[in-house]
Amino acid sequence: MVSTSFTSSHRYGEQGEVFFNDGRELELLQRIFSQPPAELSKLRNNPRGILSFIDNFATQKYLMNVGELKGKHVTALLRSQKPSLCVELGGYVGYSTILFGSTVAEYSTPSNPARYYCLEYSPVFGAIIMALIDLAGLSDVVKVVIGSSTDSLNRLHGEGALKGGVDFMFLDHNKPLYMPDLKLCESLGVVRGGTVLVADNMVKPGNPPYHRYVNLSPEEKKKEAEGKAGAERGDPELRYENKWIESWEPSAVPDALEVSRCLGRV
Ligand SMILES: C[S@@+](CC[C@H](N)C(=O)[O-])C[C@H]1O[C@@H](n2cnc3c(N)ncnc32)[C@H](O)[C@@H]1O
Repeated sequence: MVSTSFTSSHRYGEQGEVFFNDGRELELLQRIFSQPPAELSKLRNNPRGILSFIDNFATQKYLMNVGELKGKHVTALLRSQKPSLCVELGGYVGYSTILFGSTVAEYSTPSNPARYYCLEYSPVFGAIIMALIDLAGLSDVVKVVIGSSTDSLNRLHGEGALKGGVDFMFLDHNKPLYMPDLKLCESLGVVRGGTVLVADNMVKPGNPPYHRYVNLSPEEKKKEAEGKAGAERGDPELRYENKWIESWEPSAVPDALEVSRCLGRV
C-alpha cells in the first residue's frame, strides 16, 4: 500500500531550525489539562480524541510525531499480526505510544494480555507520555520507561520483562542508535525469529547503516562480526525479510518505514 499523495487530514507546521525541546511539549500538556472540565472529560479514555488534539496543536507548532499516514501502516500491521510483547524506542509526547498502544489494547485480553513498552530518554517527555497514557486509559497495557534505550533494554532484559523475545519493535529514537540497539537486542535474544521491526524515518533523515545491516546476508554479517563479541557482534546468523513502505511525514515531506521480519537462523 503506497500513498502517492499526501492525504492526511492534518498537515503539521514546518519543522524549522528549532523544532523540539523549546517548551512546546509542556505547552501541549498544559493546553490539554487546562481545558474546561467538560472538554477534558471528553478526552478521558479517548485515545482518538487525544491524538486529534495533538494533531491540531502540531498544525501550528510542529511536533516530531510519526503522524497519521505512516501511523496507519503500523496499526494495520499490529491488527494483522497481534503482537503480544511490543517495544517502542523513542516516545516523545506519546503520539505513537497512544496510537499503537491503543491498537494493541484492542486485542489484549486478561487471558492473553499484551504489553507495550515505551522507552524514552528524556524524563520530561517521559512524564508527558505517562500523563497522556493515563488520560487515554491505556495504563494497563502501556508501560513508559525513562532512560536511554540501551540501558533500558539491558535492564528490562535483566529483569526478565523481555523473556522469550519481543514480537514487535518500533525504532524511532536517536538515528545512529538504530543499528547498535538492534545488535544489542539480537545478542540478548530480545530480537529472534518472528520479531517484526518497524524503523521510522528511513528517508527523512534516512539511516544507511541500519538499512545496510538488516539487508546483509548472514554470510556477510558473519564476516564483519569476526573477532567481535556481545552487543558489538549481534547475532549475525539472523536473517531478515525487508519491506520498504513509502509514506509521508505529517508535514507532507516524503518518508519511508522499513519493516523487517526476522526469519531466525535460516
Ligand atoms: C522522533 S521522536 C519519537 C516520536 C514518537 N515515536 C512518535 O511518533 O510520536 C524521538 C524521541 O526519541 C527520544 N530519544 C532519543 N535518544 C534516545 C535514546 N537513546 N533512548 C530513548 N529515547 C531516545 C527523544 O527524546 C525523542 O523523544
